Order: sequence, then C-alpha cells, then structure tokens
Amino acid sequence: MTRTGAGPSARLYLRPMFHPHLKIGVLGGGQLGKMLCQAAADWHLHLAVLDPTPDAPASHLCSEFVVGDFRDYDAVLAFGQKADLLTVEIEQVNVQALYELERMGKVVHPAPCALEIIQDKGRQKIFYAENNIPTAAFELFDDDEALLQAVRSGRWRLPLVQKTRTAGYDGRGVAVLRTPEDLQTKRLYGPCLAEEYLPLRAEVAVIAARNAADEVTVFSPVEMDFHPEANLVEMLLCPARLSPFEAAEAEALAERVIRAFDLCGLLAVEMFLTEDGRLLVNEVAPRPHNSGHHTIEAAATSQFQQHLRAICGLPLGDTSMRLPAAMLNVLGAPEHRGPAHYEGVEALLAEPGVYLHLYGKQTTAPFRKMGHITVTALTLDEVVAKARRVRDIVRVVSRPA
Ligand SMILES: Nc1ncnc2c1ncn2[C@@H]1O[C@H](COP(=O)(O)OP(=O)(O)OP(=O)(O)O)[C@@H](O)[C@H]1O
Ligand SMILES: [Mg+2]
Repeated sequence: MTRTGAGPSARLYLRPMFHPHLKIGVLGGGQLGKMLCQAAADWHLHLAVLDPTPDAPASHLCSEFVVGDFRDYDAVLAFGQKADLLTVEIEQVNVQALYELERMGKVVHPAPCALEIIQDKGRQKIFYAENNIPTAAFELFDDDEALLQAVRSGRWRLPLVQKTRTAGYDGRGVAVLRTPEDLQTKRLYGPCLAEEYLPLRAEVAVIAARNAADEVTVFSPVEMDFHPEANLVEMLLCPARLSPFEAAEAEALAERVIRAFDLCGLLAVEMFLTEDGRLLVNEVAPRPHNSGHHTIEAAATSQFQQHLRAICGLPLGDTSMRLPAAMLNVLGAPEHRGPAHYEGVEALLAEPGVYLHLYGKQTTAPFRKMGHITVTALTLDEVVAKARRVRDIVRVVSRPA
C-alpha cells in the first residue's frame, strides 16, 4: 500500500466530519450507491439517497430515500439542504446546485469544480494537458462537421477515436473511425473531441483515495478485459498483469492525478498501456467504480469504506490485497427485456471463493449491468481459470425457465 502525506491543501476541510448524527447525502442510488450504503451500515452512518427511480438499487438499504432527479437544480438544492456532507455515485449531477450548497456551508466531496471538469471529456483532456498528465493526443471540435473537415483537410488522419464531450458512458459516446465509410456511418453528432487511435497492450485502472489531511492511498492496479459486442468490461483482474515497474508507475500516476484535481474521496483513474510501453490517462471518475468491486472481498478495505473514510475525514484504510481476484459483470442476456429472472444461482454458489452481488434491478435488458461476481483464489492463474469456468453459469433472462 502507498500512503503519503504532503500537508493539507487550501480546499480541504480540516475539521473531522465523523460523528453519530452526521447526515450524508448521496446523489444517485444505483448499484454503487447501494454498496456505499452497505459499507455505511457498519458504522451506522445516516445516508440519504436521491434518485429518480423509486425502486433504485440503493432505495431499500439507505436511511432515507428521496425520489428526485439529481440533474435538476431545485431537486439537488432541496435534498442537499438536509445533509451535512454531500457526495455522488454518478458524475452527471447538477453542479450549480452543489456550488450553491457549498456556499451555504455544506461540505461537498468531490469538489464541484473538479466534477464540472470531469463531466466534460473535452475539459478533462485540457486539464491533463495543462497539468502535464500524460494522455492521448487530442483536439476539440465544436461539432462533428468540424471534425469531418479536419480529416478532409488532412489535419487528422484515420484511424481516430471520436468522443462526445458529455453524456457518454459504457462506451456509448465513443466511436472508432477507421475508414472514410466509418466517417459517414459511425460519426457521432455534436460537440466532440478526436483522439489518436492507440494500439493498446492493456487497459488498467487504479483507484486512489485522498482525505482532508492530504493522505493518499491507492489500490493495486486492475486490468480490464472488454466484451467485444457490448463494449463493457467483461472481466477485471487484480493484480493487473504488469511488471513491478509498470505497476508502480500506474500507482504513482493515479496519486498525481488525485492531487492535481485536489479531490477528497475516491478517484478511479482509467489508463492505457500502449504497445510501445507508454502509460496514459484515459479518463477519471470521482466516485466508487466498477473496477473496485473486488475490493469488498479481496482487499483489506473496500473501495466503499475507503470513500466514506476519505470524505468523513477519517484515516484511510489499508489497501493491501488479501487474495488475487477477478470481477465479472452479470449482464442481461441478449434478446431478453422485461422483469428479471436469474438462472444458475445455486450452481454458482456451490463454487468456493465465488461471491455474487445482485443489484435488485426489476427489469433486465440486453447487456444491462444486473450484478457482479467476484472470484478469488490463491493465484491469479487459478482466478482466471475459475472465472472462465463460472462466467456463464448465471443468466439473467426475462422469463423463468
Ligand atoms: N484513444 C484510444 N485508442 C484506442 N482505444 C480507445 C481510445 N479511447 C478509447 N478507447 C477504447 O474505448 C473504450 C471506451 O472509451 P472511454 O473509456 O473513453 O469511454 P466511456 O464511454 O467513458 O467508457 P466507460 O463508461 O465504459 O468507461 C476504452 O476503454 C478503450 O477500449
Ligand atoms: Mg472508460
């Protein structure tokens, strides 16, 4: 585990937040919010959750559930006024309301100014360039027509990666444009950025945490394997198959990025390791992240508890790994849409070192994230073999077998 402290920065709050009557408001009640509530229960913390879906995954576990839109200024302001401390489990929240809540004396982690940058992939890239954080070469465009012109004029060459500046997630705001035909058929509409297309050796993520005393910890790098059709992470491995030097470099880079954003809480840093050995930051998320789910069973402290420690001004927990682990997403079966039914749960749970998390979403859809499975074993090779064996046991379908 890396643990460092370089003195507090101006933005951080030095008063400890933790006390029995502390009210934490969480914007978003999806699976990340649900697992944050599970961690909060250990300390009997009061978590209020705001989400537009009445039966959102966190709704049954939080202390207080408010149905409302976290993108809406008035909804966030009214919700936040009843809390002492605000945090998020999703980035697409109303930042103006968070600024206002901060002015009213509420503590907001992650900082609204960092959130505002992170919400816009274009501003994120500029932030990296300004802070000397290595990232793929890029250019911003007002719209996709301007990008087209840049290719026609020869300033940009194919292949390239086009990304919409906002509202992209799970690969939906990303298009790899390889041919002139792709430029016509796959081009995404609106303000965007172009990025050099990089041959990748690996995609890794490092989750960093920072508290009000400017203490920083990082979890071991994880390696992501992508599902070719759904463009979702299919299997995640920890520790990532990196050389000790590369792993140390990835950890140091994550630490540098969380300090650059001056964040308190978690920051998941997605990185590319290129075929020619460069480590570049792809994008970040200032919240618990899919790439940290395995920490619940496989690390000394879970990412969810670490986030609570960080935002409440508590000492950060030990991030050492107990065991190598894999995380598999449980996705809705293709061609199934409707009330969710789970097949194969008994067979899966007969396996030792296998942990199932179901998020409780009422309806399934093709490739919807319905849960995840953590697989542990004594060695990473055993983990991979077991994960391959169990990956298809559970199926999420729209009708009982
Ligand atoms: N410059 C690039 N070169 C090669 N591949 C890339 C590049 N940028 C993105 N990709 C591929 O596309 C995937 C999705 O990109 P990115 O993470 O930026 O989008 P996203 O929609 O925010 O994804 P998610 O929500 O799944 O994290 C990456 O994980 C990577 O596999
Ligand atoms: Mg990504």
